[in-house]
Amino acid sequence: MEEIKKHAHHTTAGDNSLAKDAATRVLSLVSHKLKTPLSIINGYSETILAELKPGEMSNFSIKALEDINKQGEKLSILIDKLVRFANISDLLPEDLQKKEINVRKIFSEVSSKCILRDDSITITSSDNTIRDRAPNVEIKCDNDTKIYADGALLSIALEELVDNAIRFNNNVNKKLRLFYYEDQGKDILAVADNGVGIREQHIGKIFHKFYQVDDFFTGQIEGWGLGLALVKRIMNLHGGNITVRSQYGVGTIISLVFPKQ
Ligand SMILES: Nc1ncnc2c1ncn2[C@@H]1O[C@H](COP(=O)(O)OP(=O)(O)O)[C@@H](O)[C@H]1O
Ligand SMILES: [Mg+2]
Repeated sequence: MEEIKKHAHHTTAGDNSLAKDAATRVLSLVSHKLKTPLSIINGYSETILAELKPGEMSNFSIKALEDINKQGEKLSILIDKLVRFANISDLLPEDLQKKEINVRKIFSEVSSKCILRDDSITITSSDNTIRDRAPNVEIKCDNDTKIYADGALLSIALEELVDNAIRFNNNVNKKLRLFYYEDQGKDILAVADNGVGIREQHIGKIFHKFYQVDDFFTGQIEGWGLGLALVKRIMNLHGGNITVRSQYGVGTIISLVFPKQ
């Protein structure tokens, strides 16, 4: 992310971009201000837990500290995402560091990274046997397929899609498919899942900042509702776009469409 920060710009042309810039700056400021107190909460709770001697604290206190630490860590992740969103919102197309990216390689890197992050694959259930069951991932792409893109940003975009595909899915057997194809001279990278799907009335809104479908029935809504807005931004920077196909209760396919260079 350092690279992205380094390239951050402040656009000043036109009223619209001024307003956006102010909002972005507030986001960035707020998130940085939150980081310091949080690192104290997380750091102290972790140290106390690590140095704990047997019998020194009641079970209740230990549990409370563990919760403080766990929630603090979650909050840190949320804040890092806000910072990331603010930084990428500030980028301009000329800031991209485009090069040839091997699509199969980035597909497999991103999917294994998302799947290793344990809390994203915890299924809310009293039955522990279905917890942490890794999704079944299928990657369909030739070994030598390459596209011209900013690798760091493409990874971020794919991570958001894979993260959604895993989280908005109540199946015990989660299936993920990452595939590439060419269509009308465009490079398409798609992520398909067998998750909850998105109802028609929400499809137009899921790319709006902070939008989350609130009737999602597992109560697993975390995050900011910024993921898809970020992916859309990344695709706009590349001169491409993003499309959704979804059937409620069946699954979703989200495609990143890149123009050929
Ligand atoms: N693959 C998917 N399957 C079902 N719903 C999805 C999927 N991806 C996104 N959504 C819906 O779109 C909303 C916005 O997604 P996103 O911008 O990534 O925000 P977040 O993941 O933080 O909720 C989600 O809250 C969810 O309701
Ligand atoms: Mg998301």
